[in-house]
Amino acid sequence: SSGHWIDRRGRPLEDIRISLTDHCNFRCRYCKPKEVWNDYKAYLPHEELLSFEEITRIARVAAAHGVTKIRLTGGEPLLRKGVEELVADLARLRTPQGRPLEIAMTTNGSLLRRKARALRKAGLSRVTVSLDALDEEIFQSLNDVGFPAAKVLDGIRAALEAGFENTKVNTVVKRGVNESQIIPLLEHFEGSGVSVRFIEYMDTGNSNGWRMNDVVTAAQILSIVRSRYDIEPVAPKNPSETATRWRYGRSGSEFGCICSVSAPFCRSCSRLRVSLDGTAYLCLFAESGVDLRTMMRAGGTDEELAQALGRIWSARDNHYSELRQSGPAQTGKRVEMSYIGG
Ligand code: GTP
Ligand code: 5AD
Ligand code: SF4
Ligand code: SF4
Repeated sequence: SSGHWIDRRGRPLEDIRISLTDHCNFRCRYCKPKEVWNDYKAYLPHEELLSFEEITRIARVAAAHGVTKIRLTGGEPLLRKGVEELVADLARLRTPQGRPLEIAMTTNGSLLRRKARALRKAGLSRVTVSLDALDEEIFQSLNDVGFPAAKVLDGIRAALEAGFENTKVNTVVKRGVNESQIIPLLEHFEGSGVSVRFIEYMDTGNSNGWRMNDVVTAAQILSIVRSRYDIEPVAPKNPSETATRWRYGRSGSEFGCICSVSAPFCRSCSRLRVSLDGTAYLCLFAESGVDLRTMMRAGGTDEELAQALGRIWSARDNHYSELRQSGPAQTGKRVEMSYIGG
């Protein structure tokens, strides 16, 4: 069978986000704070990670059922050895209509200068680079390992030089920490073809000590932007987009807001997450998932894998960010974002 999979809220599966590793060379306060992650030695042995073959197999089976986009995340995906080979394998896959899948990557940019060309050559479609500040002091204290913003900017430049289009920057905004960077980031990328997306700080995982008071809402972000620019909304291209977008400044520059706290977008969420060890999660805020790896390693056929994915997706009712709006929604322990894939 090759029908599309639709969940209990009428949402099709279109997009798979795969965490390649939970290792990261940064210790961003909102993701892997040092206090929690510095002594963290419990990284999985290599054989427990999904192999490139297994990842490609999941993507191939899902592509036959309507998935058109694969996003590689982490942790820092460029720390996974040989990641270019995985990209090349994924780039060879086709939809039933014969089109290549969109293969995207979310990275902290620290290794992009070294890897951008090989990734482009391997067939990666797009890169999105996380960058929370241009100011060195703010950025280095946010990543908490003293990594220079200048080097991330150089990584972004390398991506542009390698020919990547539609490159994006993700900026998580936290109250009292980096609101001051909103205008400088917009100014820096104005006219460059790179669009900045401001992300409302979220209550992911269990270790970032999130409080509603730390969130700078989309309304507040927009009011800061309007103090400097006239802005105009841009119509969404695709109903499952995470960002609402605006035009600002010169030559059609665009920025976006990913405002899942003040304006959840669960209603059109078409994303399945697969953790580094092959567990499928129906939501960024899920507490548990379904093991696909064991079944694949026990000799499950593609047909059985397809049935499992279809069964998992058909039962899906998750809409955490909508529930969050009406008070504390979950009490269990959430999986960490670096494990499940941001
Ligand atoms: P594009 O295809 O470039 O639009 O990328 P994207 O927005 O799907 O992916 P990206 O990794 O750039 O996502 C940006 C951020 O949006 C993530 O890091 C998360 O913080 C947030 N995000 C992405 N997907 C979801 C989601 O399904 N739910 C919630 N609550 N947040 C999400
Ligand atoms: N809230 C919002 N965004 C987050 N990210 C990581 N942790 C959080 C959080 N708590 C973002 C990173 C990166 C992407 C993978 O997820 O900045 O852009
Ligand atoms: Fe690493 Fe990205 Fe998490 Fe920062 S947000 S610690 S760069 S995985
Ligand atoms: Fe999708 Fe869950 Fe995010 Fe809602 S909170 S948009 S269901 S991943």
